[in-house]
Amino acid sequence: MKFFIDTADTTEIRDAKALGLLDGVTTNPTLVAKSGKKFHDVIAEICDITEGPVSAEAVADNAEDFIAQGRELAKIAKNVVVKLPLTTEGLKACRALSDDGIGVNVTLCFQPVQALMAAKAGARFISPFIGRLDDISTDGMQLIAEIIQIYDNYMFDTEVLAASIRHPLHVQQAALAGAHVATIPFSVVGKLIQHPLTDLGNARFMEDFKNIPRT
Ligand code: E4P
Repeated sequence: MKFFIDTADTTEIRDAKALGLLDGVTTNPTLVAKSGKKFHDVIAEICDITEGPVSAEAVADNAEDFIAQGRELAKIAKNVVVKLPLTTEGLKACRALSDDGIGVNVTLCFQPVQALMAAKAGARFISPFIGRLDDISTDGMQLIAEIIQIYDNYMFDTEVLAASIRHPLHVQQAALAGAHVATIPFSVVGKLIQHPLTDLGNARFMEDFKNIPRT
């Protein structure tokens, strides 16, 4: 499973890279707005940190504008992936940009047939939002499993990118379901590593090590 970091905060991205688990980055307009930096500048800075795919979201209400923005975003760096919403206009643009050889991450996916449409439109990634479905008492993880089954049935190359992850159990369940990628907020990354019994065991081993006679 590939690990992407879901942030536009370059300090967090550098820290994730230092941990050795950075396979790519996803951003969205909300995350870029939080960074306080200019859109193109922050995407360029992120692309300098990682060679993995960096999702940059186009914002428009028609396919022509999505396509124009997507082509501009793709010029920032070779690892830019254009993020488009799962709308009719977004899918039209997905087809056009994919035909140009530009990778597209289709975002805001909330049902399996939407994911089927995105794959047919040539998406490189599909982003089902687990947490936002759980928030409205729907099973986000079932969506992941059903998309994987549909893609397997028809051998689509589109990668399932589990998004809107809120806690380690989401990562665990997405991995068990076979999601190709999880995009994880930095706050969750540390929790993937920690366990109180690990800390306790480690503290005891360090203490006992002191009592071993040295030659
Ligand atoms: C994915 O690419 C999105 O940026 C993200 O996972 C959304 O997560 P949220 O529902 O926590 O905002």
